[in-house]
Amino acid sequence: MTKTLTFDETPPEGTINFGLGQPSPELLSVPIIKKASEAFIQDARPLDLNYGSAAGDPRFTHALAEFLTREYGVKADASSLMVTNGNSQALDFVCTIFTKPGDTVFVEEPSYFLAFKILADHGLNIVGIPIDEDGIIIEEIKKALEIHKPSIFYTIPSFNNPTGYTTSEARRRELIALSQSHDFLIVADEVYQMLSYYEDPPMAFGSMTESGTVISMGSFSKILSPGMRLGWIQSSPSLIQKALEYGVINSGGSLNHYTSHIARYAIELGLQEDHLVHLRTTFKKRVEAMDDALTSVLGDTLSWQRPKGGYFFWLTLPDGMDADELRAKADSYDLGFQPGSRFSSRGKLKHFLRLSFSYYWEDDIRDGVERLSKLIADG
Ligand SMILES: Cc1ncc(COP(=O)(O)O)c(C=O)c1O
Repeated sequence: MTKTLTFDETPPEGTINFGLGQPSPELLSVPIIKKASEAFIQDARPLDLNYGSAAGDPRFTHALAEFLTREYGVKADASSLMVTNGNSQALDFVCTIFTKPGDTVFVEEPSYFLAFKILADHGLNIVGIPIDEDGIIIEEIKKALEIHKPSIFYTIPSFNNPTGYTTSEARRRELIALSQSHDFLIVADEVYQMLSYYEDPPMAFGSMTESGTVISMGSFSKILSPGMRLGWIQSSPSLIQKALEYGVINSGGSLNHYTSHIARYAIELGLQEDHLVHLRTTFKKRVEAMDDALTSVLGDTLSWQRPKGGYFFWLTLPDGMDADELRAKADSYDLGFQPGSRFSSRGKLKHFLRLSFSYYWEDDIRDGVERLSKLIADG
């Protein structure tokens, strides 16, 4: 039986679990949180512990706007931002406000498997649209639009989970045009946008919101700490206004007032940007270690594209090989990974598997790839 892990559990001693799409513990920086928290507490005023403004504390949204301006290379405005509890909550929230049960949602095929449950919780009809190495395929979307009328298109445009593929800028613009002509919202999960290890990805959807049909979701989970449960929505003023009518905000104010102060200091003290540089350097080494190891022991058996960012390798198995069957045997090799079928909204993609390189140092990555090679050789 497949071993399951809770979010806080470290893999059992000796196990290499490439299924974990989380930063490794030494990349969760207690010193940064300590410095930012101390600076905040030093300056804190009683109202900093109140509910906070609906869209988020203006000092935070201004600091975030400046951070996004530097990271995305396009001017971001604080009025285009609102605080969330990270992208999982933001997606749930967007579904609450902008969909109703029975509506259709387009997702990429493959897409982030845990998003399926969030969408299903809202009674949405999930339709998967195939993607390729260049991201979403406009012709496929047009075909699907002849049959369906989606309320939203959920996309992971940069370094998609699980494929690592990135949608080109031209396709992003074509998708925006389609969203206008067919009246649906683009919900862009940009959780990996800042984690690029070679060249910059195309412009973030967060910087392309003029159409009034784009909601970009960003998160501190992959760039600082998932435990902060802090993220943001970047969108056009009318959509932000609509989102702020959310009953939860009406009752509870800013979705994460306290933690947003800590993040504000992490940004203002330059700690967040230094940490991003550290993450990019560290993850780049892990990508290259995994790519080299795969090439040397599985280069003739599997095919893949080396990811340019994000957390994942997406591997194609030879014809007739089934990743679910391999996964069932992997425990006896003290190995974990995610079979491709988990990322399919149609129960397909059985001859793919996803390896995450975010959790392990290079030696463990090499060791784990050796185990995978043995598992595949033993069939
Ligand atoms: C595509 C994608 N979206 C969202 C999340 C979770 O984001 P958050 O921690 O901000 O809820 C993940 C984490 O694996 C992810 O890969």
